[in-house]
Amino acid sequence: MSQFDVVVIGAGPGGYIAAIRAAQLGFKTACIDAGVNKAGDAPALGGTCLNVGCIPSKALLQSSEHFHAAQHDFTEHGISVDGLKFDAAKMVERKDAIVTKLTGGVKFLFQKNKVTSLFGKGSFKGKNGDLWQIEVDNNGEKSVVEAKQVIVATGSVPRPLPLIDIDNVNVLDNEGALNLTEVPKKLGVIGSGVIGLEMGSVWKRVGAEVTILEAMPIFLAAADQQIAKEALKVFTKEQGLDIKLGVKLNEIKNVEGGVSVSYEAAGEQKTETFDKLIISIGRIPNTEGLNAEAVGLEKDERGFIKVDGECRTNLPNVWAIGDVVRGPMLAHKASDEGVAVAERIAGQKPHLDFNTIPFVIYTDPEIAWVGKTEEQLKAEGVEYKKGTSNFGANGRALALGKAKGLIKVLADAKTDRVLGIHMIGPVVSELVAEGVMSMEFSASSEDIARIVHAHPTLSEVMHEAALAVDKRALHG
Ligand code: FAD
Ligand code: NAI
Repeated sequence: MSQFDVVVIGAGPGGYIAAIRAAQLGFKTACIDAGVNKAGDAPALGGTCLNVGCIPSKALLQSSEHFHAAQHDFTEHGISVDGLKFDAAKMVERKDAIVTKLTGGVKFLFQKNKVTSLFGKGSFKGKNGDLWQIEVDNNGEKSVVEAKQVIVATGSVPRPLPLIDIDNVNVLDNEGALNLTEVPKKLGVIGSGVIGLEMGSVWKRVGAEVTILEAMPIFLAAADQQIAKEALKVFTKEQGLDIKLGVKLNEIKNVEGGVSVSYEAAGEQKTETFDKLIISIGRIPNTEGLNAEAVGLEKDERGFIKVDGECRTNLPNVWAIGDVVRGPMLAHKASDEGVAVAERIAGQKPHLDFNTIPFVIYTDPEIAWVGKTEEQLKAEGVEYKKGTSNFGANGRALALGKAKGLIKVLADAKTDRVLGIHMIGPVVSELVAEGVMSMEFSASSEDIARIVHAHPTLSEVMHEAALAVDKRALHG
């Protein structure tokens, strides 16, 4: 029977990074993963993120943005395109090629770092002295490995909607939404969260009529509401996404040629038929088939594996990271927990600050933030000052043809320490890194204001927002 120092269950961005870091630290490491490729005929490492999440969604967002730009934005640059066409199947093919390249990249990294990659479903079998026994089920062919330390990184799956089953024919989860090879004429989306907005944007840009039905009465409740209001205005009034808030779903059924949804919104009953319907109402932790109960691995009331601040479970030498534990369901959070756990096993003392984990929504304009929102600061009774600056007068944004949005810096009223940075605008997914760095280094808004920012760049908007905290914006 093979014995390892560390066995990781799951090779998503949490698990594969944990395995690589553990191997780097000198541990004999194996990573068990049950993921298969789109065709279902070969193992595919990388989890949700690489196969059906972060990467494929960004590939489609980019393709659809190009098409939209060619259709609507090129003319102002003096470029006209005759006979412009869109081929959804080709877009999906390109996305698949990127996924294949990256999932193959994880396999290469495992080989390079001498991580043993085991294909199959991993489950707790029991103990042999201090060693955990983990069964690997490769389509009925079972084997057992033993490990001193186990890291559970089994991720998450889409939250089901009790009103209808997902078949990925007309009723789609993220996987189906990423694989449409024809543009639906009418697309319905349940949930105006991150997936709903990103996938709704993709299919809207290439010609679908998109209606998003959201249960909450406010838009993007987790985001700073100044940014959320700006986003809602742009998405609905300028881009034509039909976003209905405060929706109560009554009935969803498959009908000929589509899906019929009956709902109540703004006091009115409505029934609409969509060609395709995406269900994106959040994700739930995936512990199915782990045999957690048999070994007494504790979960919380929402099904997440219970961990302490350092990702220790209630079982000795069993850790859990990523989407299967509390905290934001983000790839970079999963990876950083993976690194931290491997280093803790090695006796190091890494620290992961949840307050400086950045959030990004890859719409156009993009939305990004780090730290506290104004609403959170008010609720916590923290006195703060703020500075905002718009992209509207930024030279680089104008040259790009993307001069929309703003950056807001929130700083402690007394100490000037940066408490939160919120953005909507072009490529703010990249600009937010400066905010993360500032907060990690406990910067004041004056620190950012005194840093030289290159001209002409989008980062000058961050500079101006920081200057504005002290009411000394130069272009405001
Ligand atoms: P996962 O990536 O879910 O990986 C878990 C792995 O474990 C899978 O390979 C699974 O097959 C395997 N597994 C499960 N059970 C077992 C078992 N018993 N035995 C063996 N293997 C098992 N996050 C971002 O930060 N940025 C984004 O842009 C972004 N975009 C997203 C877009 C979409 C459409 C979706 C759905 C998610 C997106 N996310 C994004 C979220 C991100 O994908 C997750 O936060 C991240 O993948 C979590 O990583 P993980 O390692 O915890 O789990
Ligand atoms: P989400 O939590 O972002 O949004 C779900 C939305 O559905 C919420 O607004 C919620 O109020 C709504 N909802 C719930 N039940 C509903 C109902 N019955 N009717 C109508 N609306 C309902 O979840 P989403 O979009 O499914 O994404 C899952 C996870 O994946 C997120 O937590 C996110 O962290 C991650 N993700 C991250 C991305 C990024 O970082 N750019 C991109 C996509 C996903």
